[in-house]
Amino acid sequence: MPSVLFTPLQIGPLTLQNRVVVSPMCQYSAVDGSANEWHLQHLTSLGYSGAGLVMVEATGVESRGRITHGCLGLFSDANAAALKPVIEIAKRYACGAHFGIQLAHAGRKASAKRPWEGGKPLTAAEGAWQAVAPSALALDEGWPVPQALQEKEMQQLVYAFVQAAERAVRIGFDVIEIHSAHGYLLHEFLSPLANQRPDKYGGGLDNRMRFPCEVVQAVRKVLPKTVVLGVRMSASDWIEGGFTLDEAVIYAQQLKALGVDYICASSGGIIHRVTIPVGPGYQVPFATAIRQRAGIITRAVGMIRQPELAEEIVANGQADCVALARAFLDDPRWVWHAADRLGASVSFPPQYALARMPQWASGVHNRSMI
Ligand SMILES: Cc1cc2nc3c(=O)[nH]c(=O)nc-3n(C[C@H](O)[C@H](O)[C@H](O)COP(=O)(O)O)c2cc1C
Repeated sequence: MPSVLFTPLQIGPLTLQNRVVVSPMCQYSAVDGSANEWHLQHLTSLGYSGAGLVMVEATGVESRGRITHGCLGLFSDANAAALKPVIEIAKRYACGAHFGIQLAHAGRKASAKRPWEGGKPLTAAEGAWQAVAPSALALDEGWPVPQALQEKEMQQLVYAFVQAAERAVRIGFDVIEIHSAHGYLLHEFLSPLANQRPDKYGGGLDNRMRFPCEVVQAVRKVLPKTVVLGVRMSASDWIEGGFTLDEAVIYAQQLKALGVDYICASSGGIIHRVTIPVGPGYQVPFATAIRQRAGIITRAVGMIRQPELAEEIVANGQADCVALARAFLDDPRWVWHAADRLGASVSFPPQYALARMPQWASGVHNRSMI
């Protein structure tokens, strides 16, 4: 059977060469939100990985919306100027991959140390800043209480998302993804565990969805028709009293009506002490439910490592495409190896062609080629 994973996927105006997506991954290596050589080599290498789409990490729409001091931002023209050549070069060497960027606000999870520095809240001496959130509810013991956002500030935040999206389009991104997962600001609005607002932005689902939908609607309005808009959500908080899959389906229906082209179904992150039954493809049922019940293109993510599992997910119609994160850090050539296992072909740079020769794979060394 020919591979389905290696067939093109049409998302709105964009055709992906296959259904493998590099999941957004924070690199915690920016300075004042601006990209540098790290991002250049990281994204260029992922660009020629053979994937259909490379998603750039959660990118703060305002300075206080970064998780750490090292998080990427698009909150200034200087940020855009630094990211522009990175994307231009990555695109120049990409083997058919498109590039997207995830726009984010960390909410009450902002002002933290990098994971390799422990990931705990920054101290004043380390340059901590005041985090904001829907309600003044701390993430956990030992985390500072965030400041509840005023409506006027929320309108400014909508504008910050819009400005960041405009910058992203200007510097060459084909896909804009709004981050409403993993316990960051927009997820905090969605989840009753973080949102206890007494106004029209808190309470029932319609109210909790209001702010994320306002952001999405405003961003869609300024995006050219040629640019794809996606949303990543946590389709379950995995705990009683949290955001549920049924709510996620309604949110996805609403997003579709607002012109969103795809949903990436992740889960969790709103509070720390939750037991999540992780295992290969454990979040796939969320993507499947959203795909079936909201009728929108979905991306599955989470512990999809074996090519055969990725193939099965798309071939069975459980999702339209799959995103992999850690598998790409472990093996940037994951797509090449998956293509070999699934009997598919993949694009690669001509400079690396000798590594893709069947003679090499079969152990025959042809000296005349070198
Ligand atoms: C180093 C690292 C950074 C991540 N940064 C982001 C991010 O910026 N935005 C996001 O939505 N998810 C982020 N994630 C989560 C991944 O995109 C993905 O959803 C998660 O790792 C599960 O997929 P995996 O099992 O293939 O790694 C990150 C994961 C890793 C390992």
